[in-house]
Amino acid sequence: MAASMDGRLVLLTCLLVAPLLLAGGVHGHPWGGLFPQFYDHSCPQAKEIVKSIVAQAVARETRMAASLVRLHFHDCFVQGCDASILLDNSTGIVSEKGSNPNRNSARGFEVIDEIKVALEHACPGTVSCADILALAARDSTLLVGGPYWDVPLGRRDSLGASIQGSNNDIPAPNNTLPTIITKFRRQGLDVVDVVALSGAHTIGLSRCTSFRQRLYNQTGNGMADFTLDASYAAHLRQGCPRSGGDDNLFPLDLATPTKFDNYYFKNLLVGKGLLSSDEVLLTKSAETAALVKAYAADVNFFFQHFAQSMVKMGNVSPLTGAQGEVRKNCRRLNGNHY
Ligand code: HEM
Ligand SMILES: *[C@@H]1O[C@H](CO)[C@@H](O)[C@H](O)[C@H]1NC(C)=O
Ligand SMILES: *[C@@H]1O[C@H](CO)[C@@H](O)[C@H](O)[C@H]1NC(C)=O
Ligand SMILES: *[C@@H]1O[C@H](CO)[C@@H](O)[C@H](O)[C@H]1NC(C)=O
Repeated sequence: MAASMDGRLVLLTCLLVAPLLLAGGVHGHPWGGLFPQFYDHSCPQAKEIVKSIVAQAVARETRMAASLVRLHFHDCFVQGCDASILLDNSTGIVSEKGSNPNRNSARGFEVIDEIKVALEHACPGTVSCADILALAARDSTLLVGGPYWDVPLGRRDSLGASIQGSNNDIPAPNNTLPTIITKFRRQGLDVVDVVALSGAHTIGLSRCTSFRQRLYNQTGNGMADFTLDASYAAHLRQGCPRSGGDDNLFPLDLATPTKFDNYYFKNLLVGKGLLSSDEVLLTKSAETAALVKAYAADVNFFFQHFAQSMVKMGNVSPLTGAQGEVRKNCRRLNGNHY
């Protein structure tokens, strides 16, 4: 009798405690405290909800897939993947949305809001905005033909933003290759991550202002970037004049602009990378050039590395446990009711 009582007690305790452990984070896990099953008990519908709203948004506008992938990147490079990029201006917060890399450029915030509203309805106060960004980036990639990966989850949301971090830590399109590599290294990311993740430029658009320098005055001697294919440069000049037209849009991958594939790397091989930061991967280092050639030759090799590097980027300095908070509205702190 006593033995059977004990057995039931043990069973009961396990049933009660196991979900708490799963929801609260388990130590010794391979992804720095994050793991894909984080919401399996606390919000089992979370992944489906994100996926369906991302799918609707991408069906409305294909470019949204690219914009959502980029949001996760611009989040992770500034004080870690903590949804700091989503905060609007308010008392004590200068929004990262106004930084050089993000101003008139970062987009997709309304889609994240839509996902957050649906998740707050299904599981109030449970799924972080930082995890929404990570899941939306994965779902977006898959929707336009890219690879799938399991997204480690359990990030919490920041209590602040850093516009200086956004200005300084996110690479600029006219940075040299050593500067780009240094900015990735600062995040714990290596040269393979630089090349594989740059492959995200297989989708999406860039404004004229982000590559104009290449067309007219690359090194300050009044000459175009000689690594840029001449006829492609002539085509670009038509829509990107010396002055004006700053916001005119061009595909980052001119061959297959809306499909996640390896044409971005094939373009680099023929001088048709749009940004200077793209073309330098081929022209400025043997190590990065070898990766460009390998990804151009084998799309599955690129997909494998891209998926691995996205998980790595998604694990940059997450807030976990009792750090930060789970925002109810991704645009503001829970304590902020202005
Ligand atoms: C290696 C350094 C990188 C530089 C210098 C860079 C720079 C840029 C620039 C200048 C644009 C165009 C912005 C505009 O004109 O509005 C852009 C777009 C984009 N970037 Fe990057 N990027 C880099 C790495 C990455 C990474 C790591 C990812 C994601 C994993 C990424 C994803 C994207 C996407 C998807 C777009 C298109 C966004 C849209 O159409 O809304 N980029 N990037
Ligand atoms: C936030 O406020 C600052 C001034 O305090 C302003 O320069 C910036 O444009 C604002 N950012 C956004 C995204 O509205
Ligand atoms: C890079 O572009 C920025 C913004 O257009 C400009 O201020 C800066 O001088 C450029 N840097 C180089 C090295 O060309
Ligand atoms: C090219 O850039 C340099 C340095 O930024 C500047 O001094 C020069 O006037 C520019 N030349 C042209 C033709 O725009």
